[in-house]
Amino acid sequence: MSFSLRFPPIASSSYSVSMRGLVFLVLCILILNGSDPCSGGKTSSFTRKVEKSVDMPLDSDVFHVPPGYNAPQQVHITQGDHVGMAMIVSWVTQDEAGSSVVLYWSEDSKHKKEAKGKHSTYQFYNYTSGYIHHCTILNLKHDTKYYYEVGIDHTIRKFWFITPPEIGPDIPYTFGLIGDLGQTFDSNNTLTHYELNPHKGKTVLYVGDLSYADNHPDHDNVRWDTWGRFTERSVAYQPWIWTAGNHEIDFAPELGEIKPFKPFRHRYHTPFKASGSTEPFWYSIKRASAYIIVLSSYSAYGTYTPQNQWLIDELPKVNRSETPWLIVLMHSPWYNSNSYHYMEGETMRVMFEPLFVQYKVDLVFAGHVHAYERSERVSNVAYNIANGMCTPVRDQSAPVYITIGDGGNIEGLAIEMTEPQPRYSAHREASFGHAILDIKNRTHAYYSWHRNQDSFAVEADSLWFYNRFWHPVDDSICARGEEA
Ligand SMILES: [Fe+2]
Repeated sequence: MSFSLRFPPIASSSYSVSMRGLVFLVLCILILNGSDPCSGGKTSSFTRKVEKSVDMPLDSDVFHVPPGYNAPQQVHITQGDHVGMAMIVSWVTQDEAGSSVVLYWSEDSKHKKEAKGKHSTYQFYNYTSGYIHHCTILNLKHDTKYYYEVGIDHTIRKFWFITPPEIGPDIPYTFGLIGDLGQTFDSNNTLTHYELNPHKGKTVLYVGDLSYADNHPDHDNVRWDTWGRFTERSVAYQPWIWTAGNHEIDFAPELGEIKPFKPFRHRYHTPFKASGSTEPFWYSIKRASAYIIVLSSYSAYGTYTPQNQWLIDELPKVNRSETPWLIVLMHSPWYNSNSYHYMEGETMRVMFEPLFVQYKVDLVFAGHVHAYERSERVSNVAYNIANGMCTPVRDQSAPVYITIGDGGNIEGLAIEMTEPQPRYSAHREASFGHAILDIKNRTHAYYSWHRNQDSFAVEADSLWFYNRFWHPVDDSICARGEEA
C-alpha cells in the first residue's frame, strides 16, 4: 500500500500558511502513530482447514520398508564439506551392521569408486536403533551427476545426486525451503508440492524440527525411522541442509534421557568441522553463489560461548565477491508476529542482530511457528539500557526474515496472530506450504511461497530480493508501488 499527498496550487499567503499548518499536523499524527506511507503489512484472508494434523499410520505406503534382508533404508544426503565437493551419505540397516561402503561413479564413467564409512547405534529409553551408517564421499567434481549404491548382494539400492556448480558470484542456484515437516498427511502434501513445483529446488534448506517423534509416548524413536523412510524419496537425491529445532532436543529426564540431541546427533550429520565449528548444530557451507550460516537456537549463544565466538569469527570470512548471497538459517524466528512462540527468538536477536546488520545478511529463514510470515527489512539495534530506543525501524542493511515453519506437522497450524499486525511484518498467513529461493546472479533472487491448498505452480507470496552487498536498494513490495 502506498499513497501520495497532493495539494492545490498556493493561491494566497493565508492559504499557504493554513495548508502548511495542515501538512505539519498530518505529519505529526503520522509520526506519533509510528506510521509511514509504506507500512501496509498483509494478513492473508485465505480460508483453510484448521482441524488437527494427524501423523500418517505406521503401515502407510510412504513408510514402506525396502524389501530384502537388511536392505538399506532411510537414505539421506547432505553437503560433506565447505565448498560442495563432498557429500555425506547416510542410511540405516535394521537387522545387522552390514557394509558401510558407498560405491559411486559419475554419469560419464563406468568405473565405480569406493568410499568407506562408519556405523553406530544408540539407545533411547526402551528403543534400540538400527545400524546408522555415515559415509563421506570426497573429491567430487562440480556440476556433475553421480550415481551411488549402498547395501550388498541382493539388497543393493541405487540413487543419484548432482553436485553444485563451482562457487562464483553470478552462479544461479535454486534452493527449496522447508521447515517443521513432521509426518502427517499435510507433511506428505508439502513434500509432494515441493517435488512437483515446476520451479525445481536443487537443495533443501531445512529450518529444523524433523520427525516430531517426541510428540509420541516415550519419544517413540520408531517415528524417527518412519520419518527417515518418508523423506528418502527427496533427500536421497538432493542434499538437505540441516538445522536443529526444539524437537531435536529429545531431553527427557523422566525417561533417564538427559543428553540433548541424542537421536539427531546419531542420525543426521553435518559438515561442521569444515567451517571450524565444534558442534554439529552451528556451521556454514558455500553453495554456488550463496554462503549459508546455520545457527542453533537451542545451544548457548551468549558472550564467550562456543557458538557466539564461532559466529564472530565466521562473519568476516564471508567474501561477497565470491558468494554474494549471505543467508542464515535458525529455528526460532526473531521477527514473528504470531501468538505461537511469540518473543522466543528475542534473546538470540539481542545477541546477534547487530552482527547481521553490520555484515549485511540478505535473508534469514526460521521455522518453529507453524505458519508463514515475511518481514520488511527492519532492525532493532539502537537500544541500550539507558536510551529506551527499542522499536524496529526500516533498515536497508538488515535482512528480510522469513518464517517457513509450515511443513505440516502433528501440532497443526498456528492460526492466532498478534493484532494489529506489527509494521515489521509484511505478509503473514497460517497455511502449510514451502518456498523456493531462485538466485539468478549477484544482484537478484526470485522468491516464492507456495501453500499446499493451491496447485503446484501457484505463488501465494512472491517478490524479487536485491542483494544487500551488490544492489542494496529497497526491494520491498511497497517500495515498488505494488499492492502489499
Ligand atoms: Fe519448533
